[in-house]
Amino acid sequence: MSVYLDHNASSPLHPDVLEEMLPFLSGAGGNPSSLHQSGRFLRSALETARQRVAALINADPAQVIFTSGGTEANNLALKGMLPLGPQTCIVSSQVEHASVLQPLIQAAAAGCRTELLAVTEQGVIDIASASRVIDELQPDMLSVQMANNETGVIQPLAELAALAHRQVSTLVHSDATQAAGKVEVDMQQLGVDLLTLSAHKFNGPQGCGALVVKNQRIQNPLLSGGPQESNRRAGTENVALLVGMGKAAEIARIKLQEKQAYLLELRRFFEQRLDGIPGVHIFSSEVERLPNTSFFAIPYYHGETLLMQLDQAGFELASGSACHSEVTRPSHVLSAMAVPEELALNAVRVSFGMENTRQQIEQFVETLNGLINQLPAAMRQVIG
Ligand SMILES: Cc1ncc(COP(=O)(O)O)c(C=O)c1O
Repeated sequence: MSVYLDHNASSPLHPDVLEEMLPFLSGAGGNPSSLHQSGRFLRSALETARQRVAALINADPAQVIFTSGGTEANNLALKGMLPLGPQTCIVSSQVEHASVLQPLIQAAAAGCRTELLAVTEQGVIDIASASRVIDELQPDMLSVQMANNETGVIQPLAELAALAHRQVSTLVHSDATQAAGKVEVDMQQLGVDLLTLSAHKFNGPQGCGALVVKNQRIQNPLLSGGPQESNRRAGTENVALLVGMGKAAEIARIKLQEKQAYLLELRRFFEQRLDGIPGVHIFSSEVERLPNTSFFAIPYYHGETLLMQLDQAGFELASGSACHSEVTRPSHVLSAMAVPEELALNAVRVSFGMENTRQQIEQFVETLNGLINQLPAAMRQVIG
């Protein structure tokens, strides 16, 4: 069995979550909108899940709209809340996930004014320039992720939300997909109006998530049909998945501190070991990051080659570049951080979970060193 080091891509289902879901997969039939006993049983399970999700982020259960995942929630936030036309202005950042950037491209095509905030070389949104942009454009919405999926950088969200709220009508949305379950996410303290969650990033099932909406009306629902989710998202809810999401949210809330401490300790241990590799560069190492994420590059080792060789050796991680029609491009996040293309193409990401151990890290670094030692010495010296 390989060692899984790719928890930011998806995290394994917690056994207690599976156990909670099983009766809904194997027996309890019916529709949660039906009025008979079976329906009421499912409705009650769904509402328990809603309460548990709300508790994770300090929101009101009525504010939770269940979706098919983070992608749908981000689409709903960006396309559902405002009229998409020349009267609308949305400000976001250059380091957002594709599920924010693509809807923004569509919004721009529909005539909206869109602007992407720049980040520093460490990957953090620059508050001074954000303040200038917000004051100048007075946007209808500011959409800024809480934590980045590649670097793990935690954005100064509360400060940005406060800046945006100086403009009375600016809605603040945050994609907290990577943050939830790894750091505290408190909607009240952050001062955000809309928040995106995805269950499979905190040991829940894939294919479900939520957009949490504080006191705002959805103007344009993505799906039209029945009155589910209080008329905000039509379609019969997937009760088994959402029960799983609720359980995962409950575990994430109760175990947050323990998990943070464990992951941070693992990452420190890993990065100390990594430091011994000549020329290694750890991105965003000087700023606050998710406790489980380490994004690094070895200057003389192409990221995807390294990824495949490590995979063969039994370690699963992610590369920081995207392969589009056979051309490998550096990640847009690293480009926004002004990382030179040669280095960005070598980026790989390790993201830990609770089942990872120090021993696995020792083995991983040993394997990495073994691979590097197999490179021709000239290559290591010349470029490294
Ligand atoms: C920051 C961020 N936002 C949104 C998503 C999309 O979430 P989902 O996979 O639930 O659609 C991801 C998934 O990788 C992500 O990392």
